[in-house]
Amino acid sequence: MLSRRKFLAASGAALLLPHVSGRAADAVTDASVLQPVLQLRPQVFFKSYAIAGGKPTELWGFNGRTPGPELRFRKGDLARISVSNGLTKNTAVHWHGIRVPHAMDGVPYVSQPPIIPGATFEYEFLLKDSGTFWYHPHERSFEQVGRGLYGALIVEEASPPAVERDIAWVLSDFLLDPATGAHQPFGVMSVHAQAGRIGNVITINGADVGSGIRLEVAQGERVRLRLINASTARVFSLAFDGHKPWIIAFDGHGVTPHLLAASDTFLGPGMRLDLILDCVNQAGQEFSVNDLISGQGLAKITYPGRAPLRSAALPAPARLAANDIPVPDLKKAVRHEIEFRGGDAGPLGIGMVNGKAISYDDMKHKYGLAWTVANHAAIEHEHQHEPLLVLKHNASYVLNLSNRTAFAHPIHLHGTPFQVLRYNGVAPRYPEWRDTVFMNSFDDVQIAFVAATRGDWMFHCHILEHAASGMMGVIRIE
Ligand code: C2O
Ligand code: CU
Repeated sequence: MLSRRKFLAASGAALLLPHVSGRAADAVTDASVLQPVLQLRPQVFFKSYAIAGGKPTELWGFNGRTPGPELRFRKGDLARISVSNGLTKNTAVHWHGIRVPHAMDGVPYVSQPPIIPGATFEYEFLLKDSGTFWYHPHERSFEQVGRGLYGALIVEEASPPAVERDIAWVLSDFLLDPATGAHQPFGVMSVHAQAGRIGNVITINGADVGSGIRLEVAQGERVRLRLINASTARVFSLAFDGHKPWIIAFDGHGVTPHLLAASDTFLGPGMRLDLILDCVNQAGQEFSVNDLISGQGLAKITYPGRAPLRSAALPAPARLAANDIPVPDLKKAVRHEIEFRGGDAGPLGIGMVNGKAISYDDMKHKYGLAWTVANHAAIEHEHQHEPLLVLKHNASYVLNLSNRTAFAHPIHLHGTPFQVLRYNGVAPRYPEWRDTVFMNSFDDVQIAFVAATRGDWMFHCHILEHAASGMMGVIRIE
């Protein structure tokens, strides 16, 4: 793939300069480099997977592929992305994990009108943070993402760690009918009220893992592997036979490099993990990358016998330069408790819908809702949401999140990454910034952040079937 910077140099920057939209709240700084306008078009296309014996599956993808194009920028760039809707349904694009002005957040009815079929919306935002991010629609996302609308958005560091290769693996799955190749029905209430839609075809960068995905490496090679979980509901936990990968970032933000350990490996929907993989084995060898949760082999790391790149082991990778995120003042922080309830197992959920107390049964059968956040079950973006919390601009907050359900939930906040202070009362081994935090059933997690950007920011479970059935809310910063 062509890096944007190289593309800019190759195509004559002067030709690309004139269009500067006045819409973005971020100014073009001296450090930012004006980028050409990238075009993304959600559209239908067809692809065959072995499970259906070669019968084509209708997929939805950006620019007719899934994942959509890998967008690469440098920290400080001004991204300009024009999205023209080639579907017959409304859509919009959310830039997951990117600190954007509210109007660029891509949430229909909350930050912009939906992009109707045939219409175009131009996004423009400054890339303040480097890291591994991704993009996806926020309209019926359990279906739109589930049909293939997602892609990687990578913002390179000013001085990235030295590696021979920098690769993204976008992990996902599809739930197909083996007889027809069609997607099994979306929006099934019993699925929304349980663990979400788990596919029967696991994919890496759109390819069926059953088709034999190979990462061919040379002895001594150092690879940066960016894992992005774009599935609607599947949690991954990767194990690399014969290798000891270093974790260098969670959700794009640098962490003290440490070896991948079991406790770090729950990669819930929406979450990312940057690894440094030192390929220390010998020509002719082959190793599996396995998903410990499904028990499936996902890929093979093979050593086809290229000339060794180095013989001695490399030292631990350096820590990535930190992104300049406002640090919460924990002494002054205002604290809030947020409980998550509901689901078809475990303690009985109850909640509020449209301001009325309601039983779990009524929630499910009258409204198609199964989950609550702070006792509210939100209906996906049909209107402006009433905020769960109203926060003061630039003040610090600590949220105590408690999962009172028998299910796991990766909880995501738009607009700013947060520090994870505690998992079940225990501080993480190394300080963490994340935008999505994995809560196992009955876990308590404490997060903190500065309410740095005004707007209505979505706060939701990234199991998209859960988000669509109530596990969503808005945090207002004013
Ligand atoms: Cu990745 Cu609210 O989204
Ligand atoms: Cu959930």
